[in-house]
Amino acid sequence: MREIRLLISWLLLLSSAAVAFTGLLADWWGLSHVRIHLWSGYMAIVAGLAHLALNWQNLFRMPRPIIRREKRTPQPNLRKGVTMRGRRSFLRGIGLGLVGGLVTAYLLPLLFSVRPRVEDLSQAYHKWSSITLRGVLWSGLRWGRAPAQYKRYPSAKQIALPSPIPLTMSVQEALDRRRSVRDYRPVPITLAQLSALLHAAQGITEPTYPKRTAPSAGALYPLETYVVVHQVEDLKPGIYHYAVLDHALELISPGDKRREITLACLDQEHAHAANVVFVLSAIFQRERWKYQGRAYRYILMEAGHVGQNIYLAATALGLGACAIGAFYDDHLNTMLGIDGEEEAALYVLTVGVPA
Ligand SMILES: Cc1cc2nc3c(=O)[nH]c(=O)nc-3n(C[C@H](O)[C@H](O)[C@H](O)COP(=O)(O)O)c2cc1C
Repeated sequence: MREIRLLISWLLLLSSAAVAFTGLLADWWGLSHVRIHLWSGYMAIVAGLAHLALNWQNLFRMPRPIIRREKRTPQPNLRKGVTMRGRRSFLRGIGLGLVGGLVTAYLLPLLFSVRPRVEDLSQAYHKWSSITLRGVLWSGLRWGRAPAQYKRYPSAKQIALPSPIPLTMSVQEALDRRRSVRDYRPVPITLAQLSALLHAAQGITEPTYPKRTAPSAGALYPLETYVVVHQVEDLKPGIYHYAVLDHALELISPGDKRREITLACLDQEHAHAANVVFVLSAIFQRERWKYQGRAYRYILMEAGHVGQNIYLAATALGLGACAIGAFYDDHLNTMLGIDGEEEAALYVLTVGVPA
């Protein structure tokens, strides 16, 4: 019995620590659907209930003196001292809990709040990439050569996409209705819906000088689109690359990738439940040869444009989308088979049928 008590106590301690840790992490990163946090929560509840069941006598013994003041002369069989000791430790526990809570919630962040340092990289980069008159004079110089405009997987199986279904919802309505949706039903979406989403993301709308649905600085189009397919009618699960020119998909890696993509996205549940997960990457040199150090700014802006297009198209199709900025870069790049230097994943968006 003693061993079981000990085991339950440890379980309770560890699962509570996991709840606290994953909760703090989720708060720092602004995540709201972290599965490991949820599971540790359930585990803590189960362990807590078991702990209560095994120790309920102690529980009632401790606060009793507070609820009902006992006579100074306790019953002989109540073991003199237990009542007093119980009351003291109960009050001490409450006091410590309060002080601990206050310190963790208010004082520690005050004392150790991290102020942005002047040498913070983003600040330095922003300043360094600002346009100045001197910079404009140098801007005629090129940084290397422009790479190929379109990425190809010649040995990959190509799947032609049907024409995208027209989005009939008004822009006004789509804007008003757009929300980040993280709860999805386990029903498939159609290939025509996926086709419409891909067209909205990066589809070609002007064939003469191929221009696309989303704007791009200098029409250089540095972004690539990958889809991790979980549940789409007439399409096997796997990782696909969107071949923009042909409006087709190229199968890079077949198989169920739900676990892998979810882990890469810090265990965020909606990456698992979605029908499809979009990953936007950039081939930096496509924009860098012309815009030099400023290119990175433009590339991130462009990813935002594409992301919003996916959000709005999903809304117009009656689907739900959610952006994911928190992911393990290396893990995601490896999944896509890109090096993370010349080409790197920038932005993830889940799309599914709203619950
Ligand atoms: C760049 C960016 C990164 C985001 N990353 C995440 C994320 O990792 N996980 C998540 O659940 N939501 C993420 N979101 C969604 C935001 O939480 C959401 O947009 C915000 O709460 C506003 O809600 P709304 O989109 O419904 O208006 C991200 C949004 C943006 C723009």
